[in-house]
Amino acid sequence: MLEGARVLDWCFSAVEATRALSAGRSAIPARDGLAVPPPRLRVRVAGTAEPEWFLESGRTTAETIRDAALRHGLNLADPQRLLDFGCGSGRVTRHWPAIGPVDVDGSDIDAPAVAWCAEHLTFGRFAHHGLEPALPYADETFDLAYAVSVFTHLPAELQLPWAAELRRVLRPGGLLVLSLHGDAYLDRLAPREDDDYRAGRLVVRRPSSAGRNLCSTFHPREYVGSTLAGGFELLEHISNGMAGTPHQDLVVLRKPPAA
Ligand SMILES: C[S@@+](CC[C@H](N)C(=O)[O-])C[C@H]1O[C@@H](n2cnc3c(N)ncnc32)[C@H](O)[C@@H]1O
Repeated sequence: MLEGARVLDWCFSAVEATRALSAGRSAIPARDGLAVPPPRLRVRVAGTAEPEWFLESGRTTAETIRDAALRHGLNLADPQRLLDFGCGSGRVTRHWPAIGPVDVDGSDIDAPAVAWCAEHLTFGRFAHHGLEPALPYADETFDLAYAVSVFTHLPAELQLPWAAELRRVLRPGGLLVLSLHGDAYLDRLAPREDDDYRAGRLVVRRPSSAGRNLCSTFHPREYVGSTLAGGFELLEHISNGMAGTPHQDLVVLRKPPAA
């Protein structure tokens, strides 16, 4: 079983490497004047090395987060502290300077991606950490934290401690924005997975590859409300609502304000 998981992991890495190689090595100019990460780092976050998609989808995702924050009283046109949890090679992070005077940190388990961000996205600060909590930030540091396409690759035993850790680093009243695989992914589920999902249970594929794209999770609305949102106020859950990150649900949670 373990051997099978290793072979699958190896095959998946080979597919990613092939996609990266097919993109060529020439440097790509971006309108924001920032460097574009190399194909292998684009493939790891986007599944494709296509540079235009990397840039445009990241911009749309940042704007979707900005609009969601504004609906809940947080204006990112004002100075705010943001955490991009699972920032990868900065697909979303790179767009904040064009959006507002935010002060941004990014964190990830992927050391080469974090190193690339630290070298090229010098307006932000970037931290590498392990698959399990903790984050290297003090309590109540951030006004908003977001995790785009990250909880989609973590099994339940990692999701809940990470949600609690993100709550710790948010200020009271701070927002947590998540993107999740929801109803828009129903047609990709096998019959038994479909049964679990419709019964409100989290569906986890290949948990032994936790943190990698090979591990996929699917979040029924009931699970988000009853379990993942624990300790937060659930402000909204919009099916297919994370524009720029195709077909993923948008979930906005609030850490309860101080009593
Ligand atoms: C599909 S990529 C998305 C990257 C980025 N958020 C984006 O939307 O472009 C998933 C990212 O989550 C990161 N990741 C997975 N598990 C993590 C964890 N426990 N803590 C932080 N980052 C994690 C991966 O390394 C990867 O960069």
